[in-house]
Amino acid sequence: MKDRKENWDELAINKNRNRKGKSKRSKSKKKINQDERDDHDFIDSLETSTGKYEWMKEKRYKSLFRDIENKLQGVMGKGSFEWVDRRVFDQVFDRLTLMSIFKLMKNEVIDTVDFPVARGKEAHVFHGTDPNGKPIAIKIFHTSNAVFKNLIQYIEGDRRFSGLRRRHRDLVDIWVRKEQRNLSRLAKWGLKVPQPLGIHKNVLVMDYLGNDTSPYPKLREVSVENPQEVYDELLEFLAVAWQKANLVHGDFSPFNILWSDEVGPIVIDVGQAVIQTHPKAQEFLIRDVTRLVEWGNKNGLDVELAEAMYEVLNMDLTHIVEQE
Ligand SMILES: Nc1ncnc2c1ncn2[C@@H]1O[C@H](COP(=O)(O)OP(=O)(O)O)[C@@H](O)[C@H]1O
Ligand SMILES: [Mg+2]
Repeated sequence: MKDRKENWDELAINKNRNRKGKSKRSKSKKKINQDERDDHDFIDSLETSTGKYEWMKEKRYKSLFRDIENKLQGVMGKGSFEWVDRRVFDQVFDRLTLMSIFKLMKNEVIDTVDFPVARGKEAHVFHGTDPNGKPIAIKIFHTSNAVFKNLIQYIEGDRRFSGLRRRHRDLVDIWVRKEQRNLSRLAKWGLKVPQPLGIHKNVLVMDYLGNDTSPYPKLREVSVENPQEVYDELLEFLAVAWQKANLVHGDFSPFNILWSDEVGPIVIDVGQAVIQTHPKAQEFLIRDVTRLVEWGNKNGLDVELAEAMYEVLNMDLTHIVEQE
């Protein structure tokens, strides 16, 4: 395992040296590759449309991609998601993203990528499994947005501004790391969020919240039996996050809270969460509490902002202890 991992690092960094090594090996493997070709026409099919995936045909990437091709079946249109998947594939899986997935596979965080469960403005979320067969959620952040795509054509190829695409990717990567760190910080205080399981560049792996076919519904979409209980739990979530983890969620809407009949509310989407010292932390906190109060009122509770704010800031949390 270690060897393969190091090979990969080398491959990513030292193209020339690897090319030499590969060409030697590829001779002895020629026969096998020939046999495999019939089963693997996906790469060829990608190429005909845009030429965007030309790189996959390069010798040094080809065998790597063949390696993960089988494990990407669900999103590559061989499963039941055919026509969506090709578009999803085009949108999400650029070269560096595939490499990140490959790396996470080598590190035994991901075994398979099965099917998309949701798409947002910033990311696609996929159902996958880890090497033990446990379901995982793979959140793949888009590395370009429409505006950026439009602008980049005027920038790319102009030497004075080379590196811009890179800088955009760096920003995305930082955003992903922020989400991961916020998740572990909240989990550390016993709060119900998906545990982060691994990260590489724009790919974040975490606990999967849902069943075999779909993620848990959003709190927004369900009517709960006991709104008071749910309200109290979520108010305590905000209090613990603020008082103990020193974090404000920042987008605490019933769209970013999933509902499980067994576990209750589970909070997701914490990339935008900020620490208390952020200049807008208090403004965000008031907004989060307001959203919760609105949800409460919609569900028949008689709750109000001032009181809820007071609770979040002053709730006695001596029973809350940091987890190992
Ligand atoms: N850990 C997870 N398990 C299952 N589904 C998830 C998970 N995280 C996100 N999702 C699904 O993906 C959707 C978008 O995720 P979210 O983190 O809210 O990203 P965005 O920034 O695009 O809003 C969620 O509404 C939910 O349906
Ligand atoms: Mg969201």
